Amino acid sequence: MLFDRVKPLDAILATAERKSLHRSLSGLQLMLFGIGCIIGTGIFVLTAAGAQKAGPGLMLAFAIAGAVCIVAALCYAEVAAMIPVAGSAYTYSYASVGEFLAWTVGWALILEYAVAASAVSVGWSGYFTGTILNEFLGIQLPAWLSAGPLALGGAPGGLINLPALLIAMLITGLLMIGTSESAKVNAVLVAIKVTALTAFVALTFTSAEFDVDKFNPFLPAGVFGGIGTGLGAVGAAATIFFAYVGFDAVSTAAEETKNPQRNVPFGLIGSLLFCTVFYILVAAGAIGTIGGQPIMGPNGIPFPAGSEELARQCALPQYAASLVCSDEALAHVLRQIGWSGVGNMLGVAAFLALPSVILVLIFAQTRIFFVMSRDGLLPERLSTVHPKWKTPHIVTFLTGLVVAVGAAFFPVGLLADYANAGTLYAFFMVAVTVMVLRVKDPHRKRPFRMAGVWIVAPLALAGCVFLYVNLPIEAILVLPAWGAIGIAIYFLYSRRRSHLGRGIVEVVDDIGGEETMIPIHPEGRTG
Ligand code: ALA
Repeated sequence: MLFDRVKPLDAILATAERKSLHRSLSGLQLMLFGIGCIIGTGIFVLTAAGAQKAGPGLMLAFAIAGAVCIVAALCYAEVAAMIPVAGSAYTYSYASVGEFLAWTVGWALILEYAVAASAVSVGWSGYFTGTILNEFLGIQLPAWLSAGPLALGGAPGGLINLPALLIAMLITGLLMIGTSESAKVNAVLVAIKVTALTAFVALTFTSAEFDVDKFNPFLPAGVFGGIGTGLGAVGAAATIFFAYVGFDAVSTAAEETKNPQRNVPFGLIGSLLFCTVFYILVAAGAIGTIGGQPIMGPNGIPFPAGSEELARQCALPQYAASLVCSDEALAHVLRQIGWSGVGNMLGVAAFLALPSVILVLIFAQTRIFFVMSRDGLLPERLSTVHPKWKTPHIVTFLTGLVVAVGAAFFPVGLLADYANAGTLYAFFMVAVTVMVLRVKDPHRKRPFRMAGVWIVAPLALAGCVFLYVNLPIEAILVLPAWGAIGIAIYFLYSRRRSHLGRGIVEVVDDIGGEETMIPIHPEGRTG
């Protein structure tokens, strides 16, 4: 009963065929698109939290998280090339494991996209206040305006993170009036980010401060810090996984890719491999120069990243220069090793480039809501398209509001961990989807057919579970709690209103585009 509402794949594909976008993207373009979505707050900011959890083992953490993302990406590549329509993991699940699980995926994607957008906004705020206001304009924003309250994991004296709130609102406004990022702007921003990180690696590795002794002890909190502690190399991997989130956006461009069999996996795997190598080098450069040992509590265990105790330690003068205490980790490292000017330029690069990551995340969120509302699972008013702007302005506004509130009051590490919990669930379901479709629909054309699916997809499942159980306990709990709210809404509201449940399959792939209405049970079904 619960799993019987599966959206017919033929109906979904009919829209894709009708739309038949021009196949113009090359593998390299796809890879650039991926890098544009991936590099953001994770590497620029969370490096500090990762070091607090794992010390130099952060490098291992980047490798572990990158490996999980690569196997998940292969699963995405297969379904995305096969079902190249809007809605990402939500749509794939609807076509394979049915409406109920698809709803839970759509619900979890709110964590992936909206909460991640809050996290990136807070990350941006650190660079804006540190580099632009402080270094360039000499303005010291009062503590109460630059961080959320300590009670929620913010900084001492914090009340509201005003810059984070404002950037989230600004981006929302741009999306409401129909701004989207062109491939050219993306390429420029990727070039800025990659140049900044390359300069970082070059300057740290050649610095006189670089000393291999700083990697010792390599694993001060061990490999496994214990389930729910979020510590050790695997705890750091679970947090730093955030640095890779966003690659799934590449899968949404599958339909516009030339020779998808080759280029979709090239774009996905290429962008992930590129970022993994870069991230490990950046972590090595940061730790090799200014060190990255965690601040230990009295019992020899690192204080939890983002905790009140850690915030108090970081306020002490002896930790002022510490990597684990910095809000703008990478710029901070360069300033510490005598490259203040370049550090400030890196801060400017983050200031310029992070908003595009926020834009992609909020955009993705609105499209998921849009598709869910057109499926009848969310109120249809949400998918109203503005007559002039041609955007789903209501849902964009509401999404932006949630993102802005999250950004205003919560710290970046907590938001990233919550986002990771939701993302890991979505990735898990995509791996399930790949296998279900191989069994249920083995002969369907697959523009990209993954080799070794029965090894890779289970590995992706295991990797997602592994990272999930290594998140801090609050983030582990947030997924079932969030899921329970979602399931209650599903049974109280969505299940009865579902278009599929009422006998129509409605497939809309484009904002303002035509709809395809396919009655599958002409007599109507109310189930
Ligand atoms: N991966 C993106 C970032 O690190 C979300 O900002």
